[in-house]
Amino acid sequence: MYLHLPLLLFLLAHATQSEANVLARSSESIVRVATRAHRRAVKGSAGLARDLRLSFRGILADTQQPAAISNSRIYCVSSSGFSSGGNGSEIANGGTTSVGFEPISTNVPFSGSSSGSSASSTSKLTGTTGTGTATGSGSKPTSSAGATSSPWKIVQSYQGSSFFNGWDFFTESDPTHGTVNYVDQNTAQSANLTSINGAGHAIMSVETTPTVASVRQSVRITTQFTYTGGLVIMDSVHMPTGCGTWPAFWSNGPNWPAGGEIDIVEGVNDYTNNQATIHTNPGCSMPSSSSSALNITGDVVSTTDCAAAETGNAGCGIRSADTKSYGATFNSNNGGVYAMMWTNDGISVYFFERNSIPSDITNNAPLPDGWGQPMAFWPASTCSPFQFFNSHSAIFDTTLCGDWASGVWGSAGVPGQAQSCAQITGVPTCQQFVQQNGAAFAQAYWEVKYVQIYQTS
Ligand SMILES: *[C@@H]1O[C@H](CO)[C@@H](O)[C@H](O)[C@H]1NC(C)=O
Ligand SMILES: *[C@@H]1O[C@H](CO)[C@@H](O)[C@H](O)[C@H]1NC(C)=O
Ligand SMILES: *[C@@H]1O[C@H](CO)[C@@H](O)[C@H](O)[C@H]1NC(C)=O
Repeated sequence: MYLHLPLLLFLLAHATQSEANVLARSSESIVRVATRAHRRAVKGSAGLARDLRLSFRGILADTQQPAAISNSRIYCVSSSGFSSGGNGSEIANGGTTSVGFEPISTNVPFSGSSSGSSASSTSKLTGTTGTGTATGSGSKPTSSAGATSSPWKIVQSYQGSSFFNGWDFFTESDPTHGTVNYVDQNTAQSANLTSINGAGHAIMSVETTPTVASVRQSVRITTQFTYTGGLVIMDSVHMPTGCGTWPAFWSNGPNWPAGGEIDIVEGVNDYTNNQATIHTNPGCSMPSSSSSALNITGDVVSTTDCAAAETGNAGCGIRSADTKSYGATFNSNNGGVYAMMWTNDGISVYFFERNSIPSDITNNAPLPDGWGQPMAFWPASTCSPFQFFNSHSAIFDTTLCGDWASGVWGSAGVPGQAQSCAQITGVPTCQQFVQQNGAAFAQAYWEVKYVQIYQTS
């Protein structure tokens, strides 16, 4: 296994003392530690993306200047006046948001400069403030007065022909060791890996060249905008699926796992049930592994200790019970809406199939109190949401193989995966299959209607 220098430096910088000693001993040990870190670990490192970007800013060729000036807007709308499609005043694009829930570690090193050169281009755009600032209330929003009044206001929206404005294209080696090469925005556009289709939906696909010698081109994008607390809503009509795929829609904060990681949509191969997972510093756990005690529709599938360092990075994973929440069945049902809510009560993830999306969501005035049980919930009682999580960016990626999809290539038994991919494809390794079967990745694409980030004010 090949570990590049930045990854090694990252591991050293973030390892616990004992791991650091191991790391220092030999490169073979480094590989073992990295492998143990397994799928979740290093992926978890949004961390990694941002840390590398910062640590190596001096030597990174920062070529991912957005092709067009961003038209994305951040809206600050007065609570009483907000309604579907309401207009607000544009503040800035790509700023860092610190929400006033709790006065902890909001002064992250990324404030006001979440994306290097892109940030300056966006402040040139607005000619006003260079940093988006939104504020949030400290308590769980409840609908007041009118039953249709939502406490949640859109602060950032990615949709339509300007969907890709306001995202950074990650171009480092895949931290999860996938058989991919993450390309920059210009390359992605020329290779038609990103586009906006006739319906106005954003497409993110992978290279389908019949045979490749090593890796396939893919994309991994990160919002320049960051948020601490909020409600993230993502509507997708199609997601990558099939043997060899490992897509995710997720978020993380700085200095992984200190800033926390929230995996909203994730799975591998032919899975049909989504898994949502959090990864944190030590001290965050779940009070129970019982669905009824947690008041969730999903099932806890891993440890109740969410600390990356204490669990081999397994984190606290919860699998949806909905067989149309991920993969081919999600796609044949025209997908649906995922919502991640992060408040003083905790962090929760909801999924709504296409035909049961609440009207308050489609009306851009979400009322989570009426949504019923979430598929996943990590209560604040045992995991302080503003101690273990801060300054998140939302991320889409599609990797191929990598630690997770390769690791379970020969395994079956998870919903959707009655037979293993090794059995289905007749190919012994994920990497070999990916390299030699480009046509198999025609369904390995995201088709996203929108991503919206809401906060209370
Ligand atoms: C926002 O305001 C502009 C200019 O007044 C108007 O043209 C547009 O229709 C408004 N959009 C919405 C969604 O109300
Ligand atoms: C580019 O990709 C889109 C979406 O996958 C597809 O509909 C379109 O035909 C592609 N265009 C070309 C020129 O290949
Ligand atoms: C469980 O969640 C539902 C839906 O949010 C709520 O109505 C109910 O009161 C909750 N039950 C408990 C025991 O918390």
